[in-house]
Amino acid sequence: MGLDQNLASQLKSIEDKVASELKQCSDLDALQKIKAYFLGRKKGKLTQLIKLIPSLSINERKILGPKINQTKNKLLTLFQEKEKAFASSNVKSFFDPTLPGEKPIYGHLHPITQVCYEAEDIFEKMGFEIVEPFEIDDDFHVFETLNIPQGHPARDMWDTFWTEDNFIPITHTSAMQNRILKSVKPPIRAIVPGRCFRHEATDARHEHTFYQIEGVYVDQNISLADLLGTLLSFLEAFFQQKLKYKIQPSYFPFVEPGLEFLISCVICKGRGCATCGHSGWLELIPCGPIHPNVLKMGGVNPEKYSGFAWGMGLDRLVMLRFAIEDIRLFHSGNLRFLEQF
Ligand code: PHE
Repeated sequence: MGLDQNLASQLKSIEDKVASELKQCSDLDALQKIKAYFLGRKKGKLTQLIKLIPSLSINERKILGPKINQTKNKLLTLFQEKEKAFASSNVKSFFDPTLPGEKPIYGHLHPITQVCYEAEDIFEKMGFEIVEPFEIDDDFHVFETLNIPQGHPARDMWDTFWTEDNFIPITHTSAMQNRILKSVKPPIRAIVPGRCFRHEATDARHEHTFYQIEGVYVDQNISLADLLGTLLSFLEAFFQQKLKYKIQPSYFPFVEPGLEFLISCVICKGRGCATCGHSGWLELIPCGPIHPNVLKMGGVNPEKYSGFAWGMGLDRLVMLRFAIEDIRLFHSGNLRFLEQF
């Protein structure tokens, strides 16, 4: 059999195969596969024959070249026809990237994520940068650099989980303070929204897994007034109402003095209700001016710079925003709860 006849029979067999495959083909995915099998750029059956053309003699090329091209055009027409047929019959599996996206009928962000994004937006407008914490960190960052050396009694304030190789699922987002202080020169303005873990008995107000938004602010001549103004501005923007505030002494080894920031209850406007324990006040944000030792360990000169930090409970904000009474609902996976948001 001459080259001519041999090739002719190969082309014929390709055409026949394509025709019979297309008859059985019922969706566009399958069609794409058939197309790739015969016309694929590297290994397509017909492509391989096309690649032979340059190696033929001039005479052979004159006769065989057009034959191969004819087959190629035939196949292209067959594929096109089939594609059109599918398009007009609206075959679902066809993915058309030019169509506008379909909105999923079901699903939305978790209420904690929704409120977290909202809080991030407010802080970003105030000039804060967002830093993500490590969810598992070491003793150095969770305690040492926060002025809580080994054996310090204040370690008892955090019921910490430990991994077998001595790492800690972070008990507070303060674990990022040292890295933030080291990473940029003041002025520093950063928030750290993150998930924290504690070895706690759970009840309506306590969870083993919860969220905090840490804040770190360092510059020259920063005073307590800057701390109070920052927190009040955030909370008034968040709750969209004028608030009264007060501070109360507290204790954390990494701030001096340690403070608790309270606002007038956003539910009863200070008159007294179950949410505020009938006191009219919500104890909301532990905070304080950053301890000089913490600045020093972060490579910041406490003679020149000062700053403040806070660790706000995000779950609490979400609970106040949506009047949720039990923190355990957040991780319950209860759809009747989640579908309300
Ligand atoms: N890290 C503290 C906690 O989780 C909160 C805090 C942060 C207090 C920053 C003061 C300053 O208990």
